Amino acid sequence: MKKAFFGFAAILIINSLITRGMIQAQDISLPSPSRKGGMPLMEALDARGSARLFSEKDLSLQQLSDLLWAAWGINRESDGKRTAPSSHNRQEMDLYVTLRSGLYIYDATGCRLKQVHSRDIRALTGTQDFPATAPVNLVYVADLAKRGLKEGQQVTEADQLSSWANTGFMAQNVYLFCASEQLACVIRAMVPRDKLAPEMGLKPLQVIILAQTVGFPGE
Ligand SMILES: Cc1cc2nc3c(=O)[nH]c(=O)nc-3n(C[C@H](O)[C@H](O)[C@H](O)COP(=O)(O)O)c2cc1C
Repeated sequence: MKKAFFGFAAILIINSLITRGMIQAQDISLPSPSRKGGMPLMEALDARGSARLFSEKDLSLQQLSDLLWAAWGINRESDGKRTAPSSHNRQEMDLYVTLRSGLYIYDATGCRLKQVHSRDIRALTGTQDFPATAPVNLVYVADLAKRGLKEGQQVTEADQLSSWANTGFMAQNVYLFCASEQLACVIRAMVPRDKLAPEMGLKPLQVIILAQTVGFPGE
């Protein structure tokens, strides 16, 4: 009884410290991306393709770091510009990463994954079966506040056009990285956005554009 009380009290204290930002949730520190090497571009283009069979094996932290850098890393430190273009350089895209260990946001400057929560929501990133077990599902989210939309404003399809284009560039970078690393991937529009957005804690001006599954090829 006493033990249970102290256990409960400890959970309450830890939760309150996390809420007040006094201790960090389980962020993942990533190794610096390796910005050299890889397959020659024409060979990567030749090998690019979508796959829907994935092994459950996890990527190494180096592979994860390189993958995220390819998608949305900073390649010009002097002005903070990235590996993928964005309309007017608004950089409104956030790259969310769902892993077995939880939901994260890619922090390119800090070279880390910032944990949003520790629930495994991979299955909710798609309506097909493989996202639930593949090791990595990227979710491309546009923060339309960074495109000048105001809180309470209705989001139209036109407001999202640039973000769809930006996502296309990021996703193709991922396709080419995967081709170079012999990883499997597929970009996906079949995403249950209404169910997923609340599980990700998104605000009304944060819009899910596409998701992309990545992993080792399965049999
Ligand atoms: C915008 C877009 C949405 C897509 N959505 C899905 C999807 O929800 N599920 C899926 O399995 N594949 C999806 N795909 C992958 C396409 O089916 C695939 O690119 C197409 O069959 C051509 O195959 P390839 O990528 O191997 O050339 C999507 C592709 C694009 C460009």
